[in-house]
Amino acid sequence: MAESMYGLSRTMRCAEVSLENIGDSVTLMGWCHKCRDLGGLTFLTLRDRSGEIQLVVSPDSADEVKEKTAKVRTEYVLACEGIVQKRSAPNANMKTGELEILVTSLRILSEALTPPFYIEENVNANEPLRLKYRYLDLRRPDMQRNLIMRHKIAKCARDYFDAEGFLDIETPMLGKSTPEGARDYLVPSRVKKGSFFALPQSPQLYKQLLMLSGFDRYMQIARCFRDEDLRADRQPEFTQIDLEMAFVNEEDVMKVTEGFLQKVFCEVMDIHISLPLQRLTWREAMNRFGSDKPDLRFGLELIDISQTVKDIPFPAFAEAMSAGRSVRAICVPGGAAMTRKEIDALAEVAKTYQAKFLSWLSISQTPRGSFLKYLSEEQITSIAAVTGASENDLVLIVADKDEIVFAALGALRCDIAKKMNLIAENTYNLLWVTQFPLLEYNEEAGRYVAMHHPFTGPMDEDIDFLDTDPGRVRAKAYDIILNGTELGGGSIRIHDLDLQRKMFSLLGFSPEAAYEQFGFLLDAFSYGVPPHGGLAFGLDRMVMLMTGSKSIREVIAFPKVQNSSDLMTEAPAPVTDLQLDDLSISLTEDKTK
Ligand code: AMO
Repeated sequence: MAESMYGLSRTMRCAEVSLENIGDSVTLMGWCHKCRDLGGLTFLTLRDRSGEIQLVVSPDSADEVKEKTAKVRTEYVLACEGIVQKRSAPNANMKTGELEILVTSLRILSEALTPPFYIEENVNANEPLRLKYRYLDLRRPDMQRNLIMRHKIAKCARDYFDAEGFLDIETPMLGKSTPEGARDYLVPSRVKKGSFFALPQSPQLYKQLLMLSGFDRYMQIARCFRDEDLRADRQPEFTQIDLEMAFVNEEDVMKVTEGFLQKVFCEVMDIHISLPLQRLTWREAMNRFGSDKPDLRFGLELIDISQTVKDIPFPAFAEAMSAGRSVRAICVPGGAAMTRKEIDALAEVAKTYQAKFLSWLSISQTPRGSFLKYLSEEQITSIAAVTGASENDLVLIVADKDEIVFAALGALRCDIAKKMNLIAENTYNLLWVTQFPLLEYNEEAGRYVAMHHPFTGPMDEDIDFLDTDPGRVRAKAYDIILNGTELGGGSIRIHDLDLQRKMFSLLGFSPEAAYEQFGFLLDAFSYGVPPHGGLAFGLDRMVMLMTGSKSIREVIAFPKVQNSSDLMTEAPAPVTDLQLDDLSISLTEDKTK
């Protein structure tokens, strides 16, 4: 039976015991990590969130202590009183490796079944099992470190933005469903039958309204919900460090954001970030790296070779050129050593981005290549010259619509950098990508959609193109990129009612439909709006990158899996007919089953 803690009070955590405590009597509580019975002499390792310490029960210990020790198994919860002493055989792998506790009294506070996996660093259990028993998985030191780091980052954000005059204001979880962006999570109303709240995809509109209400600088560590396909860096339920500021331009928002990044890297990781951060316009990022979130820790830049290859009678190039598309390349240093199989694997990567062909040319004494028969020696030399390829390099080429060329080569450069180990470990490359297009044409919908969101302001110098060439308008938008991942993004917003109406109309809303969806915002905008702008960081992504974790799930206490379910609670789960009746909801048969 479990014993109580009555009369006992923990004096410190396990790994807080130090050499200074030698000779002291201490009371420690935690989980039994390991028991070793060496015939009379028993060693227990006690673990809590600070780390571990060794407990010793010797043949001279009181009988009660020896009897209880014999019952202890791993993961039992123990309270022990004892004297701190120096270990005769120190363990250099433990923070408290020079110390041990000679147990004078022991209580078993809770017994435990044998866990389904061992509670240790880098456990060799599969992820579904870890997630089903997440409460045990979270006992592991690496998971504890991740969540402690997460706490420190969030605290650093609160401290920094508080010092900069930001007010932490909560916004509703139950809001109104609005189109654009991802699919909403809906919550049925019991009172207003047939109506639904939506969980917020972000506090975007509320934070803009807070600026209109005069709060000037807002911040919130905000939960957001998006019903979208999951990836390693995406969860349906995630957290933003969300900011909004009044009377600012892009520079003001970027400056205050950079200050935070500098502080958080310094305080949490002891890494100095030099400011100002590098900036690339969206156009330059796409042209040079094929991505709006380029990883600049390695080269492999894209080169437009359209002009160099325009006279080569290779059908793939000729076709691309005639259709006003482009031919671009990357040069892989030392890539000529790649086998045909390795190059085919790269072509497969390119194919997933809709590139039909990956053409290639290896520069060596006897050049090899997929389109060699169309090439003269001079043409080989000029391709090598324009791509900067020399002996033993490989030139990879995609000819297609720009968006396909960028996506395919952008992905290939990352894939090759990983395969060829071109990325230095423990480097943090931060940069801004600015001047995004305001709108993207969506062929399927047959209309423009907002690249960020419909409240993003157009650049002043491009406003006239809204009427003549909307696709050409650049936005006052900026994304912050860390090692090729979008860490955050924001913009200066539209604060002019007429411009906001025009934006809705460009996005295909009739004035009535815009009013139905965003009436509260349009009404509010009639009552004096300060120019304003802001940004939101993905907190989970920030912690993932700063802890060096491979997936966002490693830094969220209770994450969801690929199909957006929780393996531990088994949510989502059916509800009772009574609950459905209350909401006037009747279920139709799922035809996909
Ligand atoms: P955006 O949609 O770019 O902007 O989101 C901001 C940041 O939030 C993170 N993020 C996610 N993290 C985990 N899982 C997801 N599903 C997910 N979706 C986004 C990313 C991203 O950069 N309201 C605007 C911000 C603004 O304009 O101020 C917004 O939400 O790191």
